[in-house]
Amino acid sequence: ASGALWGGRFSGGPADALAALSKSTHFDWRLARLDIAGSRAHARVLHRAGLLDEAELEGMLTALDQLDADVTAGVFTPAVEDEDVHSALERGLIERAGPVLGGKLRAGRSRNDQIATQVRMYLREQATMIGAGVLDVVDSLCEQAAAHPGAAMPGRTHLQHAQPVLLAHHLLAHAWPLLRDVERLQDFDRRAAYSPYGSGALAGSSLGLDPAAVAAELGFDGPVENSIDGTASRDLVAEFAFVSAMIGVNLSRISEEVIVWATKEFAFVTLHDSFSTGSSIMPQKKNPDVAELARGKSGRLIGDLTGLLATLKGLPLAYNRDLQEDKEPVFDAVDTLGLLLPAVAGMVATLTFHTDRLAELAPQGFALATDIAEWLVRQGVPFRDAHELAGACVRVCEERDIELWDLTDEQLAQIDPALTPAVREVLSVEGALASRDAVGGTAPVRVAEQLEAARGRARSL
Ligand code: ARG
Repeated sequence: ASGALWGGRFSGGPADALAALSKSTHFDWRLARLDIAGSRAHARVLHRAGLLDEAELEGMLTALDQLDADVTAGVFTPAVEDEDVHSALERGLIERAGPVLGGKLRAGRSRNDQIATQVRMYLREQATMIGAGVLDVVDSLCEQAAAHPGAAMPGRTHLQHAQPVLLAHHLLAHAWPLLRDVERLQDFDRRAAYSPYGSGALAGSSLGLDPAAVAAELGFDGPVENSIDGTASRDLVAEFAFVSAMIGVNLSRISEEVIVWATKEFAFVTLHDSFSTGSSIMPQKKNPDVAELARGKSGRLIGDLTGLLATLKGLPLAYNRDLQEDKEPVFDAVDTLGLLLPAVAGMVATLTFHTDRLAELAPQGFALATDIAEWLVRQGVPFRDAHELAGACVRVCEERDIELWDLTDEQLAQIDPALTPAVREVLSVEGALASRDAVGGTAPVRVAEQLEAARGRARSL
């Protein structure tokens, strides 16, 4: 007796090489609590179907409680001969309830519907945890935005100076994708809220068991509509892996900016000592390791998703053992985000922004040239011409190594008579910011509203 769940038609146990390959207890043991919860619900429907009498149900539930306590206490753990979490826990049940009663629980269920259900239960729990962690990062971004209401910075496109923006506007631009990630997790949960339990191996159960009762007990909205789909599909697992990868990529984009901002050349931010590291050889070093690890681990999260999709591609219906490979990628995604989210939240919350330097750089690189063009448009000049004239201003400044606001009245008039001294009213960062006052723009009034909107969205999730 190898302890396997399928010995009857075999003349001997599995080869060592097969047993080693087949084994999953080293990663699926984290589902033990959920497997036992499923077993309790399954025992109740067996009872309702007349397959366990009152005393047997009581005995079964007592043994499952003992097993649960022993698993939690670490007293009961998988043995070398256990193939997976399900076989280990059946062994544990039989040790506690005896072979006659313990042997009755497997009726009408298969590891195929058990595992499909448990993965959904696990990912639904984790989606809530990860969502809370993402909201902590959003909180840090909103706090920093709130702490710097008027600070300007150079807004960039192509990493080149483009137009001045508010630092708060830029920080909130990182918050919105993360808020959408939390919405994605909640949306995933709506679809994952259907229980495959009762699907059996693939065709459903013949024993008069009630999948809806099991689903309700396990916190699902209902049972799946199709037992083949219930046991063979893993699109929900892939969806979870996608959202995890998207969160990783969003954290990576924040991180890349922090890494650049913390350089001597940018000097936009200083990292807090508690969220930076030193060098073993260069005493002066202060490194942005949190941001680098976030950037690095986003690659790993992408790998979890692509690896899973590659596993699923080409699998015929229904269950195939390949599907055992669905768990490690998402477990890795859960563990990775569990480490990453608090670290990124802390790093962002403790950044010191050098607002004087940001303000000084905000108008540089001729970042107010668009404001000249738009001022000319308000004077009735067609934008095509206005764009040309503002470009000519930049050319003159570049030749003389001066800034746009250094152009004299004569130099302006020489470029074009339409460029009267009044154009200087838009040649300030404050003016440029305040003028972009439509919804979504960087004007301080709009950004203040935006911050409240972001906080409101966060509270509603
Ligand atoms: N450990 C398997 C998995 O994770 C579940 C067991 C199904 N095994 C089987 N031979 N039908 O998918």
